[in-house]
Amino acid sequence: MKKKVVVLTGAGISAESGIKTFRDSGGLWEEYDIYEVASPSGWAKNMELVLEFYNKRRKQLKEVEPNLAHKALVKLEEKFYVQIITQNVDNLHERAGSKNILHLHGELTKARSTADPNLVYEIGYEEIKKGDVCEKGSQLRPHIVWFGEPVPLITEAAEICATADIFIVIGSSLVVYPAAGLIEYVPEQSPKYIIDPVKPNLSRFYPNIYFIEEKASTGTEKVVKQLLED
Ligand code: APR
Repeated sequence: MKKKVVVLTGAGISAESGIKTFRDSGGLWEEYDIYEVASPSGWAKNMELVLEFYNKRRKQLKEVEPNLAHKALVKLEEKFYVQIITQNVDNLHERAGSKNILHLHGELTKARSTADPNLVYEIGYEEIKKGDVCEKGSQLRPHIVWFGEPVPLITEAAEICATADIFIVIGSSLVVYPAAGLIEYVPEQSPKYIIDPVKPNLSRFYPNIYFIEEKASTGTEKVVKQLLED
């Protein structure tokens, strides 16, 4: 049976594709107020501003391409069962060709009903506008997990992490919970690789942990090469 590699990705894996991260200098949360554009209270206060923020992100997504890091993870499937858990709302893992992807924080290319969370629609790169409604007549919103909202797939993600033979984190500051806590579920003996030019602050020491202080492209290629050769 193939060993299972679980990969937790954050905004940093898409940085070299030209998508801004959130918390780096020049990141999105410098330009925008998180609570204005990514929270239920922001939505209640100014729906159009929220829609515009995500419409811009969606439009940009159409213009960018997966980078070497996304592609290296696809190569890893030659030898391993690879499960990606991404905090990213872009679709660059899909477009690179990865098979198993769990989107913890939602997806830009989907809209969902504000009346019934089970009504989710594929919208591709189209805008969501005020007045766009679901089949029950309620306004559509981005299919994104906002600050202050529960993360519906966190239990599934934790179960996946608990079965990881190898765990890799790529491009996440690991400050946003519950995603940042997933490493706690990974078995002690499983090797853990953290690929990020800036070493994230972990809450404690983990055995079998390796820090690769590099960009996602070169760091991921190195780790993937090593795992394929071992
Ligand atoms: N390669 C790898 N990592 C990089 C690169 C790069 N080229 N450039 C930046 N990084 C790293 C930064 O050093 C940082 O550790 O990517 C990380 C980005 O961190 P954040 O901006 O905090 O993004 P992320 O961890 O994905 O944020 C988590 O917060 O705002 C919410 O919902 C949003 O999913 C997001 C969540």
